[in-house]
Amino acid sequence: MTRPDTSTKHADEVSAMFDEVSPRYDLINDVLTVGNDRLWRIATTKAVGPRKGMRILDLAAGTGTSSAALAAHGAHVVAADFSEGMLAEGRKRQAGNDLIEFVWADATQLPFEDNSFDAATISYGLRNVNDPRKAIAEMRRVVKPGGRVVIAEFSTPPSSAIRAPYAWYGKHVLPRIAGAINREAAAAYSYLNESIEAWPSQDELASWLRDAGLERVAYRNLTFGIVALHRGFVPREPVVVTAADTAAAKPAEQKPAAKKPAAKKPAAAAKPAVAKKPAAKKPATLKPAAAKPAASAKPAAAKPAATAKPAAAAKPVAPKPAAAKPAATDTPAKPAAQPTTTGDVQ
Ligand SMILES: C[S@@+](CC[C@H](N)C(=O)[O-])C[C@H]1O[C@@H](n2cnc3c(N)ncnc32)[C@H](O)[C@@H]1O
Repeated sequence: MTRPDTSTKHADEVSAMFDEVSPRYDLINDVLTVGNDRLWRIATTKAVGPRKGMRILDLAAGTGTSSAALAAHGAHVVAADFSEGMLAEGRKRQAGNDLIEFVWADATQLPFEDNSFDAATISYGLRNVNDPRKAIAEMRRVVKPGGRVVIAEFSTPPSSAIRAPYAWYGKHVLPRIAGAINREAAAAYSYLNESIEAWPSQDELASWLRDAGLERVAYRNLTFGIVALHRGFVPREPVVVTAADTAAAKPAEQKPAAKKPAAKKPAAAAKPAVAKKPAAKKPATLKPAAAKPAASAKPAAAKPAATAKPAAAAKPVAPKPAAAKPAATDTPAKPAAQPTTTGDVQ
Protein backbone atom coordinates (compact mmCIF):
# COMPACT_ATOMS: atom_id res chain seq x y z
CA MET A 1 0.00 0.00 0.00
CA THR A 2 1.27 3.46 -0.91
CA ARG A 3 1.72 5.57 2.16
CA PRO A 4 3.06 9.04 1.42
CA ASP A 5 5.38 10.81 3.80
CA THR A 6 3.35 13.52 5.55
CA SER A 7 6.18 16.03 5.40
CA THR A 8 6.98 15.66 1.71
CA LYS A 9 3.63 14.60 0.24
CA HIS A 10 5.21 13.56 -3.02
CA ALA A 11 2.60 13.98 -5.74
CA ASP A 12 3.04 10.53 -7.25
CA GLU A 13 2.68 8.83 -3.86
CA VAL A 14 -0.44 10.84 -2.99
CA SER A 15 -2.12 10.13 -6.32
CA ALA A 16 -1.23 6.41 -6.07
CA MET A 17 -2.76 6.30 -2.59
CA PHE A 18 -6.02 7.77 -3.86
CA ASP A 19 -5.97 5.45 -6.88
CA GLU A 20 -6.04 2.55 -4.44
CA VAL A 21 -8.88 3.76 -2.21
CA SER A 22 -11.00 5.21 -5.04
CA PRO A 23 -13.56 2.34 -5.40
CA ARG A 24 -14.72 2.61 -1.78
CA TYR A 25 -13.76 6.20 -1.06
CA ASP A 26 -17.29 7.58 -0.65
CA LEU A 27 -18.48 4.69 1.51
CA ILE A 28 -15.47 5.03 3.81
CA ASN A 29 -16.13 8.75 4.12
CA ASP A 30 -19.75 8.26 5.06
CA VAL A 31 -18.87 5.71 7.72
CA LEU A 32 -15.91 7.56 9.22
CA THR A 33 -17.67 10.89 9.48
CA VAL A 34 -20.90 9.26 10.69
CA GLY A 35 -22.71 10.95 7.83
CA ASN A 36 -21.47 14.42 8.75
CA ASP A 37 -19.73 14.69 5.38
CA ARG A 38 -23.16 15.24 3.82
CA LEU A 39 -23.87 18.20 6.08
CA TRP A 40 -20.42 19.62 5.39
CA ARG A 41 -21.06 19.34 1.66
CA ILE A 42 -24.32 21.25 1.98
CA ALA A 43 -22.54 24.03 3.87
CA THR A 44 -19.73 24.08 1.32
CA THR A 45 -22.12 24.22 -1.62
CA LYS A 46 -23.97 27.08 0.01
CA ALA A 47 -20.71 28.95 0.52
CA VAL A 48 -19.83 28.54 -3.18
CA GLY A 49 -23.30 29.72 -4.25
CA PRO A 50 -23.63 27.82 -7.53
CA ARG A 51 -26.15 29.09 -10.07
CA LYS A 52 -27.26 28.13 -13.52
CA GLY A 53 -24.80 29.38 -16.10
CA MET A 54 -21.86 29.62 -13.71
CA ARG A 55 -18.61 27.81 -14.50
CA ILE A 56 -17.10 26.39 -11.32
CA LEU A 57 -13.80 24.65 -10.72
CA ASP A 58 -14.02 21.81 -8.21
CA LEU A 59 -10.38 21.09 -7.52
CA ALA A 60 -9.23 17.73 -6.14
CA ALA A 61 -12.74 16.61 -7.00
CA GLY A 62 -12.01 12.92 -6.56
CA THR A 63 -15.05 10.85 -7.44
CA GLY A 64 -17.08 14.01 -8.10
CA THR A 65 -19.39 13.85 -5.08
CA SER A 66 -18.61 17.50 -4.29
CA SER A 67 -19.02 18.38 -7.99
CA ALA A 68 -22.46 16.76 -8.16
CA ALA A 69 -23.68 18.93 -5.28
CA LEU A 70 -22.64 22.05 -7.24
CA ALA A 71 -24.05 20.82 -10.54
CA ALA A 72 -27.40 20.12 -8.85
CA HIS A 73 -27.87 23.90 -8.84
CA GLY A 74 -27.37 24.14 -12.60
CA ALA A 75 -23.71 25.21 -12.63
CA HIS A 76 -21.25 23.75 -15.09
CA VAL A 77 -18.55 22.07 -12.99
CA VAL A 78 -15.02 21.22 -14.05
CA ALA A 79 -14.04 18.38 -11.71
CA ALA A 80 -10.24 18.38 -11.67
CA ASP A 81 -8.01 15.81 -9.98
CA PHE A 82 -4.62 14.18 -10.50
CA SER A 83 -5.57 10.64 -9.46
CA GLU A 84 -6.55 8.64 -12.54
CA GLY A 85 -8.29 6.13 -10.25
CA MET A 86 -10.49 8.78 -8.63
CA LEU A 87 -11.27 10.36 -12.03
CA ALA A 88 -12.24 6.98 -13.50
CA GLU A 89 -14.52 6.27 -10.53
CA GLY A 90 -16.00 9.77 -10.84
CA ARG A 91 -16.70 9.41 -14.57
CA LYS A 92 -18.48 6.15 -13.82
CA ARG A 93 -20.56 7.58 -10.98
CA GLN A 94 -21.46 10.84 -12.65
CA ALA A 95 -22.07 9.32 -16.09
CA GLY A 96 -25.01 11.05 -17.69
CA ASN A 97 -24.52 14.29 -15.80
CA ASP A 98 -23.63 16.66 -18.64
CA LEU A 99 -22.88 19.48 -16.23
CA ILE A 100 -19.79 17.73 -14.84
CA GLU A 101 -16.60 17.51 -16.85
CA PHE A 102 -13.73 15.47 -15.38
CA VAL A 103 -10.27 16.79 -16.16
CA TRP A 104 -6.83 15.59 -15.10
CA ALA A 105 -5.04 18.48 -13.43
CA ASP A 106 -2.36 19.11 -10.85
CA ALA A 107 -3.59 21.67 -8.34
CA THR A 108 -0.22 23.44 -8.32
CA GLN A 109 -0.18 23.94 -12.09
CA LEU A 110 -3.69 24.30 -13.36
CA PRO A 111 -4.19 23.87 -17.10
CA PHE A 112 -6.76 26.69 -17.22
CA GLU A 113 -6.72 30.28 -18.44
CA ASP A 114 -6.65 33.24 -16.06
CA ASN A 115 -10.13 34.47 -15.03
CA SER A 116 -11.86 31.49 -16.62
CA PHE A 117 -14.12 30.45 -13.72
CA ASP A 118 -16.83 32.17 -11.73
CA ALA A 119 -15.71 30.35 -8.58
CA ALA A 120 -13.27 27.68 -7.44
CA THR A 121 -13.56 25.28 -4.55
CA ILE A 122 -11.62 22.41 -3.04
CA SER A 123 -13.00 19.93 -0.51
CA TYR A 124 -10.66 17.81 1.61
CA GLY A 125 -7.98 18.01 -1.04
CA LEU A 126 -5.81 21.01 -0.18
CA ARG A 127 -4.23 19.22 2.79
CA ASN A 128 -2.93 16.54 0.41
CA VAL A 129 -1.38 18.95 -2.06
CA ASN A 130 2.40 19.12 -1.71
CA ASP A 131 2.41 22.92 -2.12
CA PRO A 132 -1.01 24.08 -0.83
CA ARG A 133 -0.17 27.80 -1.04
CA LYS A 134 0.62 27.38 -4.72
CA ALA A 135 -2.75 25.68 -5.19
CA ILE A 136 -4.53 28.62 -3.52
CA ALA A 137 -2.65 31.05 -5.79
CA GLU A 138 -3.70 28.96 -8.79
CA MET A 139 -7.35 29.02 -7.73
CA ARG A 140 -7.18 32.76 -7.34
CA ARG A 141 -5.57 33.09 -10.79
CA VAL A 142 -8.28 31.17 -12.63
CA VAL A 143 -11.23 32.86 -10.89
CA LYS A 144 -12.68 36.05 -12.36
CA PRO A 145 -12.59 39.30 -10.39
CA GLY A 146 -15.42 39.28 -7.87
CA GLY A 147 -15.58 35.48 -7.86
CA ARG A 148 -14.94 33.39 -4.80
CA VAL A 149 -12.59 30.67 -3.64
CA VAL A 150 -14.00 28.25 -1.06
CA ILE A 151 -11.98 25.67 0.87
CA ALA A 152 -13.44 22.89 3.00
CA GLU A 153 -10.79 21.07 4.99
CA PHE A 154 -10.34 19.09 8.18
CA SER A 155 -9.09 21.35 10.90
CA THR A 156 -8.35 21.72 14.59
CA PRO A 157 -11.28 21.93 17.02
CA PRO A 158 -10.63 25.01 19.17
CA SER A 159 -11.99 23.31 22.29
CA SER A 160 -9.65 20.89 24.04
CA ALA A 161 -12.72 18.94 25.23
CA ILE A 162 -13.32 18.02 21.59
CA ARG A 163 -9.70 18.00 20.43
CA ALA A 164 -8.50 15.20 22.70
CA PRO A 165 -11.18 12.59 21.92
CA TYR A 166 -11.10 13.56 18.27
CA ALA A 167 -7.32 13.00 18.13
CA TRP A 168 -7.78 9.62 19.81
CA TYR A 169 -10.50 8.67 17.31
CA GLY A 170 -8.30 9.74 14.40
CA LYS A 171 -5.32 7.76 15.62
CA HIS A 172 -6.92 4.55 16.86
CA VAL A 173 -10.42 4.14 15.49
CA LEU A 174 -10.36 5.76 12.05
CA PRO A 175 -7.66 3.55 10.44
CA ARG A 176 -9.25 0.39 11.87
CA ILE A 177 -12.72 1.14 10.54
CA ALA A 178 -11.28 2.19 7.18
CA GLY A 179 -9.22 -1.02 7.11
CA ALA A 180 -12.30 -3.12 7.84
CA ILE A 181 -14.04 -1.64 4.80
CA ASN A 182 -11.02 -1.80 2.55
CA ARG A 183 -7.74 -3.43 3.64
CA GLU A 184 -5.74 -1.03 1.53
CA ALA A 185 -7.36 1.95 3.21
CA ALA A 186 -5.94 1.44 6.71
CA ALA A 187 -2.52 2.83 5.83
CA ALA A 188 -4.06 5.59 3.74
CA TYR A 189 -6.25 6.73 6.59
CA SER A 190 -3.35 6.65 9.06
CA TYR A 191 -1.60 9.01 6.67
CA LEU A 192 -4.72 11.17 6.42
CA ASN A 193 -4.86 11.43 10.18
CA GLU A 194 -1.23 12.51 10.38
CA SER A 195 -1.77 15.06 7.63
CA ILE A 196 -4.71 16.53 9.57
CA GLU A 197 -2.50 16.88 12.65
CA ALA A 198 0.17 18.63 10.59
CA TRP A 199 -2.33 21.01 8.96
CA PRO A 200 -2.30 24.72 9.93
CA SER A 201 -4.88 26.30 12.18
CA GLN A 202 -7.96 28.09 10.85
CA ASP A 203 -6.33 31.50 11.32
CA GLU A 204 -3.15 30.47 9.57
CA LEU A 205 -5.02 29.07 6.61
CA ALA A 206 -6.99 32.34 6.45
CA SER A 207 -3.68 34.21 6.27
CA TRP A 208 -2.61 32.00 3.35
CA LEU A 209 -5.73 33.10 1.48
CA ARG A 210 -4.96 36.75 2.15
CA ASP A 211 -1.34 36.22 1.10
CA ALA A 212 -2.63 34.86 -2.20
CA GLY A 213 -4.40 38.17 -2.80
CA LEU A 214 -7.91 37.17 -1.82
CA GLU A 215 -10.00 39.68 0.07
CA ARG A 216 -12.87 39.55 2.56
CA VAL A 217 -11.41 36.30 3.84
CA ALA A 218 -13.59 34.57 6.40
CA TYR A 219 -14.09 31.12 7.83
CA ARG A 220 -16.42 29.20 10.02
CA ASN A 221 -16.07 25.96 11.92
CA LEU A 222 -18.30 23.00 11.20
CA THR A 223 -18.93 20.29 13.79
CA PHE A 224 -16.87 22.01 16.49
CA GLY A 225 -14.04 22.80 14.10
CA ILE A 226 -13.43 19.25 12.91
CA VAL A 227 -13.91 20.86 9.52
CA ALA A 228 -13.35 24.52 8.67
CA LEU A 229 -14.89 26.33 5.74
CA HIS A 230 -12.75 29.16 4.40
CA ARG A 231 -13.79 31.69 1.79
CA GLY A 232 -12.15 34.62 0.01
CA PHE A 233 -13.00 36.81 -2.98
CA VAL A 234 -10.86 37.74 -5.95
CA PRO A 235 -10.65 41.55 -5.88
CA ARG A 236 -12.69 43.32 -8.49
CA GLU A 237 -10.75 45.29 -11.01
CA PRO A 238 -11.01 48.99 -10.22
CA VAL A 239 -13.23 51.08 -12.43
CA VAL A 240 -11.05 53.17 -14.69
CA VAL A 241 -12.55 56.56 -15.48
CA THR A 242 -11.29 57.69 -18.85
CA ALA A 243 -10.79 61.23 -20.05
CA ALA A 244 -13.79 60.73 -22.33
CA ASP A 245 -15.99 59.88 -19.33
CA THR A 246 -14.83 63.02 -17.56
CA ALA A 247 -15.47 65.15 -20.62
CA ALA A 248 -18.93 63.66 -21.00
CA ALA A 249 -19.66 64.46 -17.39
CA LYS A 250 -18.54 68.07 -17.57
CA PRO A 251 -21.29 69.66 -19.67
CA ALA A 252 -23.87 68.42 -17.20
CA GLU A 253 -21.93 69.94 -14.34
CA GLN A 254 -21.68 73.24 -16.17
CA LYS A 255 -25.40 73.54 -16.83
CA PRO A 256 -27.08 73.55 -13.47
CA ALA A 257 -29.86 75.72 -14.84
CA ALA A 258 -30.96 73.11 -17.36
CA LYS A 259 -34.64 72.24 -17.26
CA LYS A 260 -34.39 68.95 -15.47
CA PRO A 261 -31.20 69.09 -13.51
CA ALA A 262 -32.17 66.18 -11.34
CA ALA A 263 -32.46 63.85 -14.31
CA LYS A 264 -29.14 64.99 -15.66
CA LYS A 265 -27.26 64.82 -12.40
CA PRO A 266 -23.56 64.85 -13.06
CA ALA A 267 -22.98 62.12 -10.52
CA ALA A 268 -25.03 59.62 -12.44
CA ALA A 269 -23.44 60.55 -15.73
CA ALA A 270 -19.97 60.56 -14.31
CA LYS A 271 -20.02 57.10 -12.78
CA PRO A 272 -21.74 54.84 -15.26
CA ALA A 273 -19.65 51.77 -14.55
CA VAL A 274 -19.85 52.09 -10.80
CA ALA A 275 -23.57 52.61 -10.79
CA LYS A 276 -24.37 49.74 -13.12
CA LYS A 277 -22.26 46.81 -12.09
CA PRO A 278 -22.30 46.91 -8.32
CA ALA A 279 -26.08 47.19 -8.13
CA ALA A 280 -26.25 43.47 -8.77
CA LYS A 281 -22.99 42.54 -7.14
CA LYS A 282 -23.04 44.51 -3.93
CA PRO A 283 -20.45 47.24 -4.26
CA ALA A 284 -20.63 47.66 -0.53
CA THR A 285 -18.46 44.60 -0.18
CA LEU A 286 -15.61 46.32 -1.98
CA LYS A 287 -12.95 46.54 0.65
CA PRO A 288 -9.84 48.63 0.97
CA ALA A 289 -8.06 45.76 -0.75
CA ALA A 290 -9.76 47.07 -3.88
CA ALA A 291 -7.48 50.05 -3.51
CA LYS A 292 -4.54 47.69 -4.02
CA PRO A 293 -5.18 47.01 -7.69
CA ALA A 294 -2.80 45.62 -10.22
CA ALA A 295 0.00 48.04 -10.89
CA SER A 296 -1.54 48.97 -14.20
CA ALA A 297 -4.67 50.40 -12.62
CA LYS A 298 -4.91 54.14 -12.24
CA PRO A 299 -4.96 54.94 -8.56
CA ALA A 300 -7.07 58.03 -9.13
CA ALA A 301 -9.72 55.89 -10.76
CA ALA A 302 -9.66 53.34 -7.99
CA LYS A 303 -10.35 55.89 -5.29
CA PRO A 304 -13.99 56.66 -5.87
CA ALA A 305 -14.89 52.99 -5.74
CA ALA A 306 -13.01 52.45 -2.51
CA THR A 307 -14.30 55.55 -0.83
CA ALA A 308 -17.82 55.42 -2.14
CA LYS A 309 -19.11 53.54 0.88
CA PRO A 310 -16.68 53.96 3.72
CA ALA A 311 -19.04 52.51 6.29
CA ALA A 312 -19.45 49.30 4.35
CA ALA A 313 -15.79 49.09 3.58
CA ALA A 314 -15.04 49.14 7.28
CA LYS A 315 -16.99 45.97 7.89
CA PRO A 316 -14.67 43.00 7.97
CA VAL A 317 -17.52 40.60 7.46
CA ALA A 318 -19.23 40.88 4.13
CA PRO A 319 -22.98 40.76 4.08
CA LYS A 320 -24.40 37.62 2.53
CA PRO A 321 -23.41 37.83 -1.10
CA ALA A 322 -26.28 37.75 -3.54
CA ALA A 323 -24.69 34.78 -5.27
CA ALA A 324 -25.21 32.65 -2.19
CA LYS A 325 -28.95 33.13 -2.18
CA PRO A 326 -30.06 30.41 -4.58
CA ALA A 327 -28.58 27.89 -2.22
CA ALA A 328 -30.73 29.18 0.61
CA THR A 329 -32.99 26.18 0.33
CA ASP A 330 -30.14 24.01 1.46
CA THR A 331 -30.11 23.25 5.11
CA PRO A 332 -26.89 24.74 6.35
CA ALA A 333 -24.93 22.77 8.88
CA LYS A 334 -26.22 25.20 11.49
CA PRO A 335 -25.74 23.13 14.60
CA ALA A 336 -22.14 22.74 13.67
CA ALA A 337 -21.53 26.33 12.70
CA GLN A 338 -19.47 28.51 14.96
CA PRO A 339 -18.72 31.94 13.53
CA THR A 340 -15.19 32.94 14.25
CA THR A 341 -13.30 36.14 14.71
CA THR A 342 -12.50 36.17 11.04
CA GLY A 343 -16.11 36.29 9.97
CA ASP A 344 -19.04 34.23 8.87
CA VAL A 345 -19.07 32.16 5.72
CA GLN A 346 -22.51 31.64 4.28
C1 LIG B 1 -9.96 13.28 0.08
S1 LIG B 1 -10.14 13.40 -1.66
C2 LIG B 1 -11.42 14.60 -1.85
C3 LIG B 1 -12.34 14.35 -2.99
C4 LIG B 1 -13.55 15.25 -3.10
N1 LIG B 1 -13.22 16.63 -3.21
C5 LIG B 1 -14.54 15.04 -1.98
O1 LIG B 1 -14.90 16.02 -1.34
O2 LIG B 1 -14.93 13.92 -1.74
C6 LIG B 1 -8.69 14.30 -2.05
C7 LIG B 1 -8.40 14.35 -3.53
O3 LIG B 1 -7.34 15.28 -3.72
C8 LIG B 1 -6.65 14.86 -4.88
N2 LIG B 1 -5.35 15.56 -4.91
C9 LIG B 1 -4.38 15.59 -3.97
N3 LIG B 1 -3.35 16.34 -4.37
C10 LIG B 1 -3.69 16.83 -5.61
C11 LIG B 1 -3.04 17.67 -6.55
N4 LIG B 1 -1.81 18.17 -6.32
N5 LIG B 1 -3.68 17.98 -7.70
C12 LIG B 1 -4.91 17.47 -7.95
N6 LIG B 1 -5.58 16.65 -7.10
C13 LIG B 1 -4.96 16.33 -5.95
C14 LIG B 1 -6.56 13.36 -4.69
O4 LIG B 1 -6.25 12.69 -5.87
C15 LIG B 1 -7.94 13.05 -4.14
O5 LIG B 1 -8.82 12.66 -5.15
